[in-house]
Amino acid sequence: MEKSDNLIIVIFGASGDLASRKLIPAIYSLRMQALMPERYSVLGVGRTDFTDDVFRKKMHEAILAFSEEKIADEGSITDFCLNLSYLQIDNSNPDSFIHLREKLKEISSEKGIDGNYLYYLATPPSLYEVIAVNLSDAALFDQAEGFRRVIIEKPFGYDLDSGRKLNAVLHERISEDQIFRIDHYLGKETVQNLLVTRFANGIFEPLWNRNYIDRIEITSAESLGVEERGGYYDSSGALRDMVQNHLLQMVGLTAMEPPSSLNADAIRNEVLKVFQSLQPIMEEDVPRQVVRGQYTGSMIRGVCATGYRNEKGVARDSRTETYVAIKFFINNWRWGGVPFYIRTGKRMPTRVTEIVIHFKSTPHHLFRRESGKMSANSLIIRIQPDEGILMKFDMKEPGAGFNAKNVNMDFHYKDLADIRIPSAYERLIADVMLGDSTLFSRDDEVETAWKFLEPIQKAWAANPAIKVYGYPAGTWGPEIANDLIEGEGLTWRYPCKNLADDELYCEL
Ligand code: BG6
Repeated sequence: MEKSDNLIIVIFGASGDLASRKLIPAIYSLRMQALMPERYSVLGVGRTDFTDDVFRKKMHEAILAFSEEKIADEGSITDFCLNLSYLQIDNSNPDSFIHLREKLKEISSEKGIDGNYLYYLATPPSLYEVIAVNLSDAALFDQAEGFRRVIIEKPFGYDLDSGRKLNAVLHERISEDQIFRIDHYLGKETVQNLLVTRFANGIFEPLWNRNYIDRIEITSAESLGVEERGGYYDSSGALRDMVQNHLLQMVGLTAMEPPSSLNADAIRNEVLKVFQSLQPIMEEDVPRQVVRGQYTGSMIRGVCATGYRNEKGVARDSRTETYVAIKFFINNWRWGGVPFYIRTGKRMPTRVTEIVIHFKSTPHHLFRRESGKMSANSLIIRIQPDEGILMKFDMKEPGAGFNAKNVNMDFHYKDLADIRIPSAYERLIADVMLGDSTLFSRDDEVETAWKFLEPIQKAWAANPAIKVYGYPAGTWGPEIANDLIEGEGLTWRYPCKNLADDELYCEL
C-alpha cells in the first residue's frame, strides 16, 4: 500500500467525542498496519487546558476503549501516544493561530517532518468559518513548504444558503482539491462495494434500470436515541443529520451511470448528475412525499425508553424529526418512473442500513405460491451490520406439484476468513493523507443535495400543520410512511419486528 509523505495531523476539537471515539483509534489502527508515514505527529488543539501528558493519557484510554481488540496492546499504544501532543487555543482568536504556527514549526523541526499539515475540523460546525479564516490569516494554508489539507465534518451548512456561504468562504482561501468534506458512509467498505458489485459484474448492469426494477428502498435505521447529543441534534434533525449526506450519497452510488474511470472527479461527476436529475419535490407536495416522525417514550422488553422530548438538551416542545421517509423520482433515461424510497430514524428496532433493489415480477404467474404473496426478486445490499449481499428468488418447493417458494442466496463478508473490515475513518484519513478525494463530497454535490432538500425544509418551516408523527421508541416509525409506497399491499421492508411489542428476531 502507498504511504503518505511525513506529516502533522492537527485535530481541532481534540477534547471532543469524535476525536476519542473515532479519529485517534483510526490513526492508531493505521499505524499498526504500517500505513502511517515514517515520521508523523498528531497535535490536538482545543479550548480545554490539557498538558501533553494528560492528552496522551486520555487518548490511551480512548484507544483501549474504542479500538479493535485484536490490534490494541498496551505497549504499542504507549509508543503511539508519544507522537501525540496538545495545544490549548481559542478558535476565534487570531493570536492563537500564531502560536499554532510556531508550535507546528517546532514539531516539524524536532521530528524532522516536512511542512505537510492536515487539519481535521472536528468542532461544532459553527466554528468552521472562523477556523478557516484564522488558518488562512496565519498563512497556515500556504503550500510553499508542503501540502495543507483540511477535513471538514458534516453537517456542511444547515441549508442551501449556508452551504453555499461556507463553500465561498473556503474557496476564497483554499482550492477545492485541498478541501475534504467527510461523509463517513463513503468510507464504509460495503458502500464502496456498491461500485464493484455494479460495475465489475456483467449480470447486474443490464437489469439495473427502469425496464426491470420496480422500486428502490434505502433504509438507515438506528436503535439508539440521541444519547448525549440532544443539543446538537435538536437543531439538526434527521433530514440534515443523515439524509443530506449519507442517504443521498447512497442514492448517488446506487443510481449513477458507470464512471469513465476510477478517478475522483469521474466518480463524483456521475454522482452529481444523479443529484441534478432528482425530480424536485414541490413545497405543496411535501405532505404527500415526505413523512417525518419523532420517537415517544415506550417500554422495550420491560425497560422504559425515554421519549425524544425528554432527552437531555432537547426542547420539551421540540418538533425536530428523529425519523424521515421520502419518496422521490430521478428524471433521467435510466430511472424515469421508478420510485425511490429512503428512510432513516433513531430509536428503531435495530441498527441496520440496507439498499433493497426490488425487481419487477414476471409478466405471467405460472406457479402457485403457498404464501399467497406475489413473486418478485430482490437484491439486498447490507451496508451494516452483517455486511453482505443477498438475492431473494423463487425455487420449486420440493415435493408434488409446482409450488414456488422464495429463498435466499447470500454472501456475508464475515465468511471471508481473516479479512478485517477497516473502519470508515481509517480508510478516509488514509485517503486524505494521500490526497485522494474520491470518497469525499465535492462542493457542487453538497450544494445540489441541499437544493433538493430545500423545499422540504421550507415547507416544514412555513407550515406547522404538517404533522410530526409520534412513534413509540423501538418501532419502525410512523405507520403512515407505508402510504408512501406505491402498489397494492406493498410496504417498506422490515428486517425485524417492532421491539416495543414483541421479541426481537432478525432475519434477512
Ligand atoms: C452520523 C450522525 O453522521 O452518523 C449520527 O450524525 C448517526 O446521528 C451516525 O448516529 C450513524 O453512523 P453509523 O456509521 O453508526 O451508521
